[in-house]
Amino acid sequence: MKKKVKIAPSILSADFSKLGQEVTLLDKAGCDYIHIDVMDGHFVPNITMGPDIVKSVRKFTKKIFDVHLMIDPVMKYIPEFINSGSDIITIHHEIDECVTDVIKLIKKYERKVGISLKPSTPAKVIEKYIDDVDLILIMTVEPGFGGQRFMYDQIEKIKKVKYLIGERNIDIEVDGGIDIDTAKEVVKAGANILVSGSTIFKSNNYKQIISDLRG
Ligand code: DX5
Ligand code: ZN
Repeated sequence: MKKKVKIAPSILSADFSKLGQEVTLLDKAGCDYIHIDVMDGHFVPNITMGPDIVKSVRKFTKKIFDVHLMIDPVMKYIPEFINSGSDIITIHHEIDECVTDVIKLIKKYERKVGISLKPSTPAKVIEKYIDDVDLILIMTVEPGFGGQRFMYDQIEKIKKVKYLIGERNIDIEVDGGIDIDTAKEVVKAGANILVSGSTIFKSNNYKQIISDLRG
């Protein structure tokens, strides 16, 4: 099944002093999702935003909030992220907590759930969760910061994940170092949701860059 390519701008690269306006601009520019990177300074070496910020930008758009949780522990924060208006919640495979339990909790709230793999985590780990997730997020940089270089060795992993998914209705999202060139490569390999932070925010025409990334 061939899926339409969706663009999920990461607000990690936005000007945090005017986050609401930035989200409005992305909405008007025709993005599909708003990608929100939550980091705790423990699972990854950076601290970003929490549920209160998600809640405060919620009023600026009706677009899907695609929340990428790079935090561990994660379980106890799920209810707050649900209440703040998250639509898709993605957790990392590499957390110490039980991934299956967190997936179950997110599904109990009837939200979409994703599982993310760091670059060093092999594709095959998803087999255990493949019938329980809506999305698989493949990191093409080490999670933690925007503006890093795309890791080409992850292309093979995208292909493997695509193969493992088979006919299931699961999205393949790619995050890190996406620009016009790498967007083409990951879509060719099987990705259908592209996260992009620095490429979009560096541009002075969000509408154009979003449409170019979509290909
Ligand atoms: C990295 C984040 C990404 C990041 C992508 O840990 O998960 O979403 O913002 O930024 P770019 O597109 O600049 O690589
Ligand atoms: Zn992300």
